[in-house]
Amino acid sequence: MMIEVSAITPGIGAEITGLDLSQPINEKTITRLRELFLRHLVLVFRDQSLSREAHKQFARYFGELHVHPSHRSGLNKGIDPEIFVIDTPADAKQSNGEAWHSDVSCEAIPPMASLLYVTKVPDNGGGDTMFANMYEAFSELSSDLKTLLMGKMAFHDGEIDLRNYGVKVPAGQQYPQASHPVIARHAETGKPLLFVNGSFTSHIEGMPRWESDMLLSGLYDFVAKNARLQCRVKWTPKTLVMWDNRCVQHQAIRDYVGFARYGERVSILDGKPPAAA
Ligand code: SIN
Repeated sequence: MMIEVSAITPGIGAEITGLDLSQPINEKTITRLRELFLRHLVLVFRDQSLSREAHKQFARYFGELHVHPSHRSGLNKGIDPEIFVIDTPADAKQSNGEAWHSDVSCEAIPPMASLLYVTKVPDNGGGDTMFANMYEAFSELSSDLKTLLMGKMAFHDGEIDLRNYGVKVPAGQQYPQASHPVIARHAETGKPLLFVNGSFTSHIEGMPRWESDMLLSGLYDFVAKNARLQCRVKWTPKTLVMWDNRCVQHQAIRDYVGFARYGERVSILDGKPPAAA
C-alpha cells in the first residue's frame, strides 16, 4: 500500500492514508512515519479498526508505553495501566483536556507522544481537538523575550491540573512535579521550542511570582490566540491521532454538552527529560 500524506496546515498536522494500523508494519514504513511525525507533528489516521492491543502495539513502534500518574497514584484504577480513558458521557460536567496543555508535563520525563483513538464522536458534530506548534511559538517571540526566557526553568505541578477538575490526591499519595526548561530543545530535531502550559506549569523559577505570572499568562494567551500556530482535527469514529507531545500543545473543545464522546489514549516515552535549548 502507498502512504499518502495531506498536510492540514503548512506548519502542523497531516492526514495519512494507505495504512492499516491493525496489521504489522515494516521497518521502512515506520521510518517514513517517524519522518512524517517529525515534519508534521500531528498525524491523523482515519478508519482504523483497533483493538486495545493493536493500539498499544502500534504505539510500541515509536516508544515504551507510559503509565499515567492517575493510575500510579491510585486515583484512576482504569481498565489497563497503559490505557488512559477519555470518556465524556452525555451528562458529564467537564471533559478531559479542555485547556491548552501538553500531556503530563509534570512528569520528570513527560511522554514524547500521545496516540488518541476516538471511537465515539458527539452526535452534535462537536468534540474537535486543537493542536499548536511550539517550535513556531518560540520562533515568533521577539529576540528580547527569547533572551529573557532562555536558560530559565519552570516548575510543573500535576496537582494544578487535578484541582481544575476538583480532584484531590489521596492522603499519603503524591502527584508528579518537575522542573523543566522554559525553552527546551527537541530530543530528535534539536530545534528550540516553548515548553510551558497552563494546565501544569506553576511558575518560572528564580523570579518574583508576579513577573512569572505575567510572563506565563502572556505566553499562554499568545499560544491560544495565534491561529498561525494551530490546526484543528475533526474526529470521525475510529480515528487515531498521534502527536509529538514534546513540541505540541493541544486543547479538547468542549462544544458538545449533552452528547457523549469516547476515546482511549496511549502515551509513549523516549526516556529523555526535556533539555535546555
Ligand atoms: C487530551 O489528550 O488531553 C484530550 C484530547 C482530546 O480528548 O481530544
